[in-house]
Amino acid sequence: MDTITAPKPLPGPKPFLGLKNIVDMSQKGLLEFIEKNRQIYGDIFEVQMGPKKLVIVINPEHVRHITMMQASNYEKLESYDGVRKYIIGNGLVTSTGEVWKRQRRLMAPFYTPRGIESFAGIMLRDTLAARERWRQLATEQPDIEMFDEMALVTASIVLKAIFSTESPEAILEIKEAVETMTDYAGSKLTNPLKPPDWVPTGENNRYWKAHKSTHDFINKIIDARLKMDEADYPDDLLSKLITATDPETGERMSRDMLRDEALTNFFAGYETSARTMTHVWYALAQNPEVKARLHEELDRELGVEEPSLATLKRLPYTLRVIKEALRLYPPAPVYAKDVIEDDVMDGYRISKGSVVLLCPYFTHRHPEFWDEPQSFNPDRHAPENEKLRHPQAFHPFGSGPRICLGNHFSLLETHIILAILAREFDPKLLPDYDANFVAKSLLVMENGLPMTLEKRSDQV
Ligand code: HEM
Repeated sequence: MDTITAPKPLPGPKPFLGLKNIVDMSQKGLLEFIEKNRQIYGDIFEVQMGPKKLVIVINPEHVRHITMMQASNYEKLESYDGVRKYIIGNGLVTSTGEVWKRQRRLMAPFYTPRGIESFAGIMLRDTLAARERWRQLATEQPDIEMFDEMALVTASIVLKAIFSTESPEAILEIKEAVETMTDYAGSKLTNPLKPPDWVPTGENNRYWKAHKSTHDFINKIIDARLKMDEADYPDDLLSKLITATDPETGERMSRDMLRDEALTNFFAGYETSARTMTHVWYALAQNPEVKARLHEELDRELGVEEPSLATLKRLPYTLRVIKEALRLYPPAPVYAKDVIEDDVMDGYRISKGSVVLLCPYFTHRHPEFWDEPQSFNPDRHAPENEKLRHPQAFHPFGSGPRICLGNHFSLLETHIILAILAREFDPKLLPDYDANFVAKSLLVMENGLPMTLEKRSDQV
């Protein structure tokens, strides 16, 4: 006879009202807080944070349950309110239900491996421009902040891909405005004692100014585009968004939706890729044998040739270096979903109203799924090894129907940037540099990544 067992409560620290957890997390930072509790409770546990229950999810099988098997029990509701309100409105990252389904259906074709090939020309051109800049910096001003350098390249690529924006001043202005908005949203979310948005404090004023300039910038471009003859539209994402019609309803996107999707793609697409590249340079500087193999592949396969879409196929190790940086230092170290129906996962009760926090940073270091998880070893991503591992053991882009829309875009872009720049340059860490990774909305190096830009001395 079958016995029905009641779901087990989740383990975890449960101090009174969760106040100690809040203090603990804000003092230690999210990564250290999770690591400390992971050592005590294992790869799934619940943390009471004030009135909210937070379920920390690390095991790949649990990631699969939430993102694929029972995905309909999990949605992006209140935990995304701040991002919705302060940054991207109702674009694809934050939309839910039928709106999300329709928008995803409309936009998915632009981001398939074939679809993104139309952006390769921009990626190649912008990286060659960065190489020129680096040639000059290496001789004249070799002390650089690596994140700033990478953000310049990825912001420029994504703005050209979305809006065909060519002006370097406009690119810098919008990049800075979006950074101000992101910082503001982060500080409002982590500090509920901040004055309301309408109080004219310096911080609030800076936010509203950035909000206005971002919206003005996008609205101006949309207005100009809508006035053009469609036959004259440039080949960019905005044109694709405007002309996309839903195969089921035949409808096009509303103007507000266009603005939110354009903003979402910029917001989601530039800092993540810039962080990825920053982490790659850090890892290479720390792992000379990996760097030597990368250089060997680039010298052997490229010679004097400039990389193109076709030559990238001959640079598999270069791509594995990027994937390994995404494993050890995932730019989105955690991502959240709200539990909208009571669920049972692996025998545990997951209560409606709690928030699950999926943690690529910890899944990617899970000793049951990765040998020597702390070591930087790109060979883990050779096809024969990828086949052997649990599909959700590696989820830097999420997984399931809501997997990152820009994942192929980002891998193509970083593949091109690394191939072109590492062929010629070997940025060095400062002698007493000690990296300090912290989880904000993204994984950031709190003390930056100051490096000395050197040309390779061993280039063949
Ligand atoms: C290394 C770079 C990137 C990383 C690590 C990354 C990571 C992620 C993650 C973790 C999610 C959330 C998945 C979930 O909630 O289940 C996501 C969603 C998303 N990303 Fe990315 N992303 C990257 C680059 C990009 C780029 C370049 C674009 C656009 C050009 C982009 C556009 C999006 C969009 C639109 C979504 C929402 C998808 C949906 O909910 O349907 N991302 N990304």
